[in-house]
Amino acid sequence: MHHHVSLSHLKAHRAAGTRFSMVTAYDACFAQLSSDAGIDSLLVGDSLGMVLQGHDSTLPVTLEQMVYHTACVTRTKPRAFVIADMPFMAAATLEDTMRSARLLMQAGAQMIKLEGGAQLLGQVQRLADQGVPVCCHLGLTPQFVNRFGGYKVQGRTQAIADQLVADAQALDAAGADMLLLECVPNHVTARIMAVTQAPVVGIGAGPETTAQVLVLHDLLGITPGKPARFVQNFLSGSASIQAALSAFDQAVKSGAYPAPEHCFVD
Ligand code: KIV
Repeated sequence: MHHHVSLSHLKAHRAAGTRFSMVTAYDACFAQLSSDAGIDSLLVGDSLGMVLQGHDSTLPVTLEQMVYHTACVTRTKPRAFVIADMPFMAAATLEDTMRSARLLMQAGAQMIKLEGGAQLLGQVQRLADQGVPVCCHLGLTPQFVNRFGGYKVQGRTQAIADQLVADAQALDAAGADMLLLECVPNHVTARIMAVTQAPVVGIGAGPETTAQVLVLHDLLGITPGKPARFVQNFLSGSASIQAALSAFDQAVKSGAYPAPEHCFVD
């Protein structure tokens, strides 16, 4: 039926200026539904600590749990490209990084995502040397919530914006295969797009990125509490979960999502 999405397909979108879609997936059923709805990439995110486990941060999530959920997602051999998150402290040393990446890749992941900036250069290079594609998550990196003092938009001051741009440029040059920007003003995203070549995935990072990602439960509108500014409920107005996933995919690809009300402008 459909060909499987590979890293080259995702890189081709960046080169061509076209867009792709990503949602989080933690289990076999939703992985298959999302993939069948046309979603190009699935992220086994450590957000599962909040949406599945009920914690108030991602810090309690263990490597063992990430391996388990990655295996659940990949077992159905989804057409979509599967990325697994390194949980808190799983990439603290080079030795830890290699062991954690090995277990996640052996569970079926096709790429590993790590949170942080230029301090990850060593890990990115070593992973690339061993054949592991890497996504670097910058901006509001939830594992740093205790240093940030809350879940706050990043890059609002000139100094932090400059640091984010420099970090993205350095990681891209060092061979990061993908960048993910969370909660940064549109103008910071524009600067990062100008100095990088890898596909850039955004969440609360404006319309200019190559791709958009949302937490599955957020796009279905079933996460308790007040949704973040960048969240759109795609289930309201759709006849089914499948239709909501497909509406998200179409809205990302057409550029209809994110709209100005989902963005941070300064
Ligand atoms: O853990 C996660 O789901 C994430 C996305 C929200 C980007 O990192």
